[in-house]
Amino acid sequence: MIFSLAPMEGLTGHVYRKVQAECFEKLDRYYTPFLAPPRVGSSFGKRAAKELDSAYRQDLTVIPQLLTKNADEFVWAAQLLSEMGFTEVNLNLGCPSGTVVAKGKGSGFLQNLDELSTFLDNVCTKSCLPVSVKTRVGVSSDEEYEKILDLYCKFPLTELIVHPRVQKDGYKGVPRQRLYGKTLEQTTFPVAYNGDIFSSDEITALLSAYPRTRHIMLGRGILTNPALLREWNGGATLSIDELEHFHNRLFQAYMEEMGGNAVFRMKEWWCYAKYAFSDPRAVHRTVRKTRSIKEYAGATERVFHTERLADIIRFQAQ
Ligand SMILES: Cc1cc2nc3c(=O)[nH]c(=O)nc-3n(C[C@H](O)[C@H](O)[C@H](O)COP(=O)(O)O)c2cc1C
Repeated sequence: MIFSLAPMEGLTGHVYRKVQAECFEKLDRYYTPFLAPPRVGSSFGKRAAKELDSAYRQDLTVIPQLLTKNADEFVWAAQLLSEMGFTEVNLNLGCPSGTVVAKGKGSGFLQNLDELSTFLDNVCTKSCLPVSVKTRVGVSSDEEYEKILDLYCKFPLTELIVHPRVQKDGYKGVPRQRLYGKTLEQTTFPVAYNGDIFSSDEITALLSAYPRTRHIMLGRGILTNPALLREWNGGATLSIDELEHFHNRLFQAYMEEMGGNAVFRMKEWWCYAKYAFSDPRAVHRTVRKTRSIKEYAGATERVFHTERLADIIRFQAQ
């Protein structure tokens, strides 16, 4: 089984993946949060360059993700990525954000299948790296997926990662796993599942419902419970001491990266990590109002020394 870490803007970038791999089981693959390709002939911008820097990759398998509808820029970026030593490039066809969709990118690209077909034809022919796609199943309705899937089947994708929600769902409602099942049946290329796998039992249930599953991409489940895969492998459940150690390492690494802004970055992490505790609301209240590094450090120390972990650790969707 392949387990990968989902690309999550502001959460699972190079700092997080390094600390995660140091403190817990290394995942098989780490996808970068989406990056904009540079103009043809230019280099990646500063932020993307850091995300891609080999110094931050160590021995991890990192797959860069691009968000674009410009085939020439995609092909150019793939060339640069190949020179940097990457072996695959992923296309984001899932981002549901209104501003991205309005530009016809991310899941917005699924509204225009003729244009998407020309784009995929171009990039699959010209990219010097194998191309994988991370997709939603449509924009407003599940019915759209039949045509979308037929389209993907025409191209030699190296993998299709399916998050079976439509753009309009955002992250609400239940992923339609049957559409993932349909993808497994219909495609000749490898397929991965992504969406709402938050516990060991949910991994087991997915595998029993879809025994041909070979790759599960995990996002919020790992952010809430970084020991999720160890638990699934029959190992120990998460302890508060190791979560505190992980937190301290992560905070330190973000401070080295961005100074005082590390507090804001850590608060993003707490949006998920709070569900590891039996009283997520109390954790949220303690951490929420902190501004300075000193306030934040004091508040989080209180959390780790007064709160206890939940009996069953699982991300809770609102
Ligand atoms: C804050 C946030 C940022 C995200 N950023 C990206 C991204 O950069 N690229 C992408 O393909 N998906 C992104 N996603 C979607 C996740 O990769 C994943 O598909 C989603 O969280 C569902 O998986 P999960 O239920 O395992 O969390 C993001 C999701 C969230 C909540």
